[in-house]
Amino acid sequence: MRLVASRYSCRSFSKEPVSLEVMQRMMEAARLAPSACNRQPWRFAVMSGGKVLDDIRGCYRKEGFKDAPVCIACIGLHGQAWHRPTDDKDHTDVDVSIAAEHLCLAAQALGLATCWVCSFDVEQASEILGLVDGEELVALLPVGYAAEGLAVPDKARKPLDDIVTWVS
Ligand SMILES: Cc1cc2nc3c(=O)[nH]c(=O)nc-3n(C[C@H](O)[C@H](O)[C@H](O)COP(=O)(O)O)c2cc1C
Repeated sequence: MRLVASRYSCRSFSKEPVSLEVMQRMMEAARLAPSACNRQPWRFAVMSGGKVLDDIRGCYRKEGFKDAPVCIACIGLHGQAWHRPTDDKDHTDVDVSIAAEHLCLAAQALGLATCWVCSFDVEQASEILGLVDGEELVALLPVGYAAEGLAVPDKARKPLDDIVTWVS
């Protein structure tokens, strides 16, 4: 519960680099995520430098994300996803989202900060990443150490009574 309560969307990063070892530990959290029928319909592009990262930074709407030294592209593989037989619902988005949130929680546990980013030009970002048919960019996660002075903001959330129905 402490981990869940301390995770927040960070939009301002220090430029301090993140070691490969820390990133590898973080990525293990995505590998262990559950998925429908265990299909694991995902791949992750971890960008920690170079032209692709520079170009992807151009897709962020918010300036603060650009300082994050790492960006993870969470990519869904529609061709590998489970489809519910009763209505053919494609579970790619569901599965990739679970893995992405595992990454966010792992980042927090490792002293890093991150933020879900879905507000990007999907065509532009997909081209930069070289995605092929059947691949979908579900989210970008800028990753780094939070800028100095940031604290966990108050959580603006609906009360439990508004969102839970206790059925017995
Ligand atoms: C699917 C999804 C997409 C999001 N996209 C963006 C985004 O493009 N830019 C942004 O600044 N925050 C984005 N967020 C972060 C939300 O605004 C944030 O989670 C929400 O306001 C709650 O705040 P908290 O994460 O700090 O608890 C996104 C979150 C989710 C789950």
